[in-house]
Amino acid sequence: MASKITAPDYVSFDRVANLYEATRMVPADTLDRVAQIIREDARLDSSDPFLDAGVGTGRFSRHLYRNGIGVIGADISRAMLEQARSIQEGFPLIQANLYRLPFASHSLRGVLMVHILHLLEGWRTALDEVRRVLQDEAPLYLGYETGRRNPIQDIYFELATQRGIRHRHIGADSKEEVFDYLRSLDGSVTRIDGAALQWEIEIETRRLLSLLDRNPFSQCWNATESDHAKLMKELEKLMEEKGLATPIQRICGDFSLWRVSFQCTTKSGSR
Ligand SMILES: C[S@@+](CC[C@H](N)C(=O)[O-])C[C@H]1O[C@@H](n2cnc3c(N)ncnc32)[C@H](O)[C@@H]1O
Repeated sequence: MASKITAPDYVSFDRVANLYEATRMVPADTLDRVAQIIREDARLDSSDPFLDAGVGTGRFSRHLYRNGIGVIGADISRAMLEQARSIQEGFPLIQANLYRLPFASHSLRGVLMVHILHLLEGWRTALDEVRRVLQDEAPLYLGYETGRRNPIQDIYFELATQRGIRHRHIGADSKEEVFDYLRSLDGSVTRIDGAALQWEIEIETRRLLSLLDRNPFSQCWNATESDHAKLMKELEKLMEEKGLATPIQRICGDFSLWRVSFQCTTKSGSR
């Protein structure tokens, strides 16, 4: 299954490498639970090569590593990889483009992808490539954070939309679109988290505002500094008007984890 690289069409996360973890607020115990579910589901040990494709700052990889999984993190952004390394040493991190993975065909025992396919214009090519490197019957895991967010973040995104500075992602529109494509590759898709990965955290309002002020979400990265500053002013005004300017904000979220199993493709496989 050859992969064709069409264009260097990736969204660079270099600009938010040192901000990323603070703005993607999944608690450590939830990340750890994801790692445990994967380890148990795939029956992995530390000698089984397992790829976190689009590893970012290693939010998931460091928990996979701590749970005894032989994880390798791959990402196109050197700054994100450096951040990952500064948080957790001990597992390999490589700079690679998901459109052409530097692994032999049928060499990996599993792959995880979280928060990445919506960013890749060639997301189907990336999935073809993942399938190429997976051993027969080795799983691909897909994770989706469905942040219910919080009213301040909701207003932030509404304002960005109204002001025309929020653009749609260049990659997959939804997980359903991804699942349909995977099914067309003979993948079977199963949810494996038991709908149990939910959380609620609290954050100081001024901290949340200072994070938003740094324009941390890729959908708004086309905004000029001045347009983004105007948005933040309007946000603070609306917060006052709506009585949201309390000292603490509560943020809720949940995470779903899906296993994709493919039919065998090698000669020793069933087809
Ligand atoms: C939203 S972050 C997700 C990181 C991590 N999976 C997580 O959930 O925390 C997306 C990551 O994908 C990386 N990325 C984007 N395009 C890529 C590509 N073509 N090849 C490899 N990595 C890519 C970015 O550099 C960024 O670190």
